[in-house]
Amino acid sequence: MDSYSLSAAAKINLYLEIVGDRPDGYHELVMVMQSVGLADQVTVRRTGSHHIHLQCHHPDVPDDPTNLAYRAAALLQARFPTAMEQWGGVEITIEKNIPVGAGLAGGSTNAAAVLVGLDLLWQLGLTQIELQTLAAELGSDIPFCIAGGTAIATGRGEQVDMLHGLDGLFAVLAKSPTLSVSTPWAYQTYRQAFADTYLDITTAGPSRREKLHSSPMMTAISQQNGDAIGQHLYNDLEKVVLPAHPNVDEVKTTLARLGGLGTLMTGSGPTLFTLTANRSEAEAIVQQMRSRYSESELGLWIAPFLSTSLQLIEP
Ligand code: C5P
Repeated sequence: MDSYSLSAAAKINLYLEIVGDRPDGYHELVMVMQSVGLADQVTVRRTGSHHIHLQCHHPDVPDDPTNLAYRAAALLQARFPTAMEQWGGVEITIEKNIPVGAGLAGGSTNAAAVLVGLDLLWQLGLTQIELQTLAAELGSDIPFCIAGGTAIATGRGEQVDMLHGLDGLFAVLAKSPTLSVSTPWAYQTYRQAFADTYLDITTAGPSRREKLHSSPMMTAISQQNGDAIGQHLYNDLEKVVLPAHPNVDEVKTTLARLGGLGTLMTGSGPTLFTLTANRSEAEAIVQQMRSRYSESELGLWIAPFLSTSLQLIEP
């Protein structure tokens, strides 16, 4: 094959707890991640050159070596130097549908798709664990994006434990087209405000992970109980992002009144989501939101829960 195309899905956080500071400068996290059906299309194509080239026509996505997807290809090139000599260079094309700077892991899922696509294109034969170990060098959310579905993510976010998938639930996603939140800003601002509540992660990290395993959220997930999942949605980063962006807080209040199972900000935001038990409830919420907010004020998407993040698209 000369090219592979993958659908690369967004993620939402059903749970995000910040435990404390790690010696590597990151935060120790306890999260529940979920892939949802809002996806970019990532194509890796063999070229005659010995270069990596990236194309993406989105104005806010860099098409240079700073793009995570480019860095994913550069990492594989560095680790497997004979592959490019044998198979040639690669052109990466990204068709962007996932909003940028949104807390939906759009850049991470693109990088995951490049790792998996190049593994196929260059016939490297890497296992999922090997791909996730490489992914962790590039970004905290990328190992989850290799696997997708429903998972607990701990450490920096790179330690992924798969859970039984959640079938049949939907998320209504809502994001202002003009607002992005920087993830480093969100974590730094959280540290400034809440460092005095941070726990010593060497002792508290394992106990917080244990606590999540026996929490009402995990019971709700194992029972596939959408109502209970909706009641136990949680994200520490809301404490800094919502006060800094009153419009997002207002949209959250509006969404939460419209009858879904629960409403939360995902990751470092500013995207909000409301869970629903089926597509028709999601459609009813979108309709009510549209009567309040125009398309230029608020992007709205209906995204089913998915059991994987990456899917090969047959040519
Ligand atoms: O790993 P990633 O590049 O996605 O992280 C982006 C930024 O988010 C980091 O540079 C850091 O500021 C913050 N972060 C953090 N703790 C984590 C994950 C991310 O402080 N566990």
